Amino acid sequence: MMIGSRHSAPAKIILFGEHAVVYGQPAIAAPVSDLRASAIIEANPPNRSGLHIALPHIDFPVSIAAETLDNALALTLRLVLDALEADPPDVTLRIDSQIPIASGLGSGAAVSTALARALCAAVGQTLDADRLNALIFEVEKIHHGTPSGIDNTVIVHERPIYYVKDQPIESVSVGTPLHILIADTGIGASTRVAIAAVRTLWESEPARIQPILDDIGAIVRAARIAIEIGDSAALGDLMARNHAHLQTLTVSSPELDRLVDAAVSAGARGAKLSGGGRGGNLIALIDPDTESDVRAALLDAGAARIVTTVIR
Ligand code: MEV
Repeated sequence: MMIGSRHSAPAKIILFGEHAVVYGQPAIAAPVSDLRASAIIEANPPNRSGLHIALPHIDFPVSIAAETLDNALALTLRLVLDALEADPPDVTLRIDSQIPIASGLGSGAAVSTALARALCAAVGQTLDADRLNALIFEVEKIHHGTPSGIDNTVIVHERPIYYVKDQPIESVSVGTPLHILIADTGIGASTRVAIAAVRTLWESEPARIQPILDDIGAIVRAARIAIEIGDSAALGDLMARNHAHLQTLTVSSPELDRLVDAAVSAGARGAKLSGGGRGGNLIALIDPDTESDVRAALLDAGAARIVTTVIR
């Protein structure tokens, strides 16, 4: 059963279209393969049996009785065992994640995906990507309320995607590699709360909000073409337009706005919040020769940490 083996899944960024994607508009997302959540299969210590999850500070036995299934990790394991028609193995699955939580980088979906992959290996079976994706989407509903499914899809498939809810996923071919700085405001924010706030706004003011969602859809379609032909000037402008719409949807924050402005003033092609917003991370599209200037400006403006990624 592969004791000691490590099973993982990447973080993700939304390049364009977060929030509007919940309402049927397209969005573009990419994996961040250098930032990963892992689950390691370990033998139980001699004095214990059953299926356990170990987190950095606690180990707990997994009760997969129905009443505990509001726990996302327990639900992940229950759904995998049901899908595989397998009994719980006698192991500990140790979670080890580099992805900050509540930061818009898909930590919840990545941890669940890593855990599901480890459990499949522990029982000697596999789930194909589509089945695994459907299962992680069920878990995402616990984290996010009414998610679109984009986070689990980009994380499970680990490639840049053009995503429309309930449609087959489409790949995005990247004409020229996109150099991106991911900067963390250091402020944790709940995607569930941000999604619910946008829904309240949309329900109370549909005539004002629907055109914004529609224009985000238009931005995403234009961005797909710009990514495919490698037009980074156009992408920068589209990021600015998308960020302004996210401000209107009330999912930006003073810290995000300050960091976005700092990145653009220091030479980034464009910058915008990424993911649920109200904290968490922003992305800045850069030319590689401006990286040190943009990085310094982001740190000066209060970024808690910066990760560089290249999307190909
Ligand atoms: C979160 O990464 C993206 C949102 O659009 C939520 C979702 O699509 O499920 C904010």
